[in-house]
Amino acid sequence: MIEKEIEILQGLKHKNIVNLVSYGSDGHVAKPSGKEMSNIVFIMLEYIPGGLLFDMCQTLGVMGEDAGRFFMTQMLDVLKYMHQLGVVHRDIKLENILVDDQQNFKLADFGFATFKNVTKLNDYVGTKTYMAPEIKECKEYDGRQVDVFALGVVLFVIVQGTFPFQEAVDDDYYYDLLKRGKLEKYFKSTRTENLSDEFKDLIVKMFSHDPTKRPTIKQIIEHPWMQ
Ligand SMILES: Nc1ncnc2c1ncn2[C@@H]1O[C@H](COP(=O)(O)OP(=O)(O)O)[C@@H](O)[C@H]1O
Ligand SMILES: [Mg+2]
Repeated sequence: MIEKEIEILQGLKHKNIVNLVSYGSDGHVAKPSGKEMSNIVFIMLEYIPGGLLFDMCQTLGVMGEDAGRFFMTQMLDVLKYMHQLGVVHRDIKLENILVDDQQNFKLADFGFATFKNVTKLNDYVGTKTYMAPEIKECKEYDGRQVDVFALGVVLFVIVQGTFPFQEAVDDDYYYDLLKRGKLEKYFKSTRTENLSDEFKDLIVKMFSHDPTKRPTIKQIIEHPWMQ
């Protein structure tokens, strides 16, 4: 698994992706106990000072639409790059995005990333709250559409300071409202009535239960909210 992560990171060079510095299979660890271990597969990454987007969201709470757009500009650039190369991430979440001291977002943790048959995947991977419904329903899925769903969850948290729902399943009160198109009720119960119509339009599309109705990265870039 780590070999795959290394292979993928080796092929990715982008200002918003953590840079692979070195890797190997001859790592040596000396534990404080005196125990030593050899021939360890290791991966060395550029250190990102600043911390996790997760912590930034906890500290700042509601950041609003402009902050959301600032974040999206960088993440869309990175996902456009990856999806063009045929790589999908599959674990986009607040804990896997680092922020450096100059407000650059860096996508990290390519442990679930893949580049093989990305439009026809089956593996049950991801993180509960960010996982697209088609993965939960054990359907064959397109990794790009799953990345868009998870990106929507992160965007919502940045803008609104809360999660849009707990899980994309039918017995989740909030996701069910979205799925059934009860949008007014959804926005009321998540206290998002005051957000712009463009934002609401985009986020609802990114959370579409039918993955083919979700916008592609290119379509998000062209969406009125991003302009
Ligand atoms: N390049 C980095 N610079 C600084 N911190 C990092 C870096 N990469 C990872 N981390 C920290 O380590 C944690 C775990 O790394 P991650 O690659 O997400 O592995 P895991 O598969 O265990 O989630 C991250 O959530 C982050 O706090
Ligand atoms: Mg992680």
